[in-house]
Amino acid sequence: MKKFFVTLTAALLLSTTVFAAQSEIILPTVETESNLSVMQALNQRKSNRNFVDKNLTTAQLSKILWAANGVNRPDGKRVIPAALKTYSVEVYAVTSEGIYLYDAPNHKLILVAEGDFRSTTTTGQSFVEKAAVNLVFVETPEVWSTARKIPPREVQLANANISVGAMVQSVALAAQTEGLGNCVRGSINRDEFKRAAKLSDDATILLAQSVGFVE
Ligand SMILES: Cc1cc2nc3c(=O)[nH]c(=O)nc-3n(C[C@H](O)[C@H](O)[C@H](O)COP(=O)(O)O)c2cc1C
Repeated sequence: MKKFFVTLTAALLLSTTVFAAQSEIILPTVETESNLSVMQALNQRKSNRNFVDKNLTTAQLSKILWAANGVNRPDGKRVIPAALKTYSVEVYAVTSEGIYLYDAPNHKLILVAEGDFRSTTTTGQSFVEKAAVNLVFVETPEVWSTARKIPPREVQLANANISVGAMVQSVALAAQTEGLGNCVRGSINRDEFKRAAKLSDDATILLAQSVGFVE
């Protein structure tokens, strides 16, 4: 009997250790070599909706997030352009384990909420719940207060949307180099995601993008 409880306790401990979301995921340095050229990746770009529910490796996650918003120069500037050098768009990575905020300068993921919240990033497209990661692009207006010149609000939002356009194309190409599928998505349950990710009232959810293994 005692042996049974010891085994049961060990099994429970193991299951929580293995499946619990980590509070921080330090992402590995990105491998920038690829057998696929940019022109080949552009030629293959398309939306995929036939995802299979299988986690990405940490190296793949690292590549996708770096392509979305990573730092690519010693002065802190990024893979994607941003008006007035103001990086007002944050990227959230929503996986089967939790919602993470991508900390671009430190190239790591910070846990925001534990659990599978992938369904909150859609208004009902079922493929989203199978995609390994759903990126959600969120504009945070407070960043503009430190800009060299503060544009009117509608220009701030236009600038953010233009950066997001670059982000999703960058992710699509990076995904292609890993043989992963992607789908850019504007249909997002904004209220639910805002609640789940504990976003501030003034945050604007701009776009989402599913990335993952496909059939
Ligand atoms: C701003 C934007 C929003 C989109 N929203 C959705 C969406 O909510 N759901 C979806 O399945 N596809 C969405 N798409 C993908 C388009 O349907 C897709 O790009 C289009 O049909 C062309 O197909 P292709 O990407 O394979 O070339 C969106 C694309 C963009 C650029």
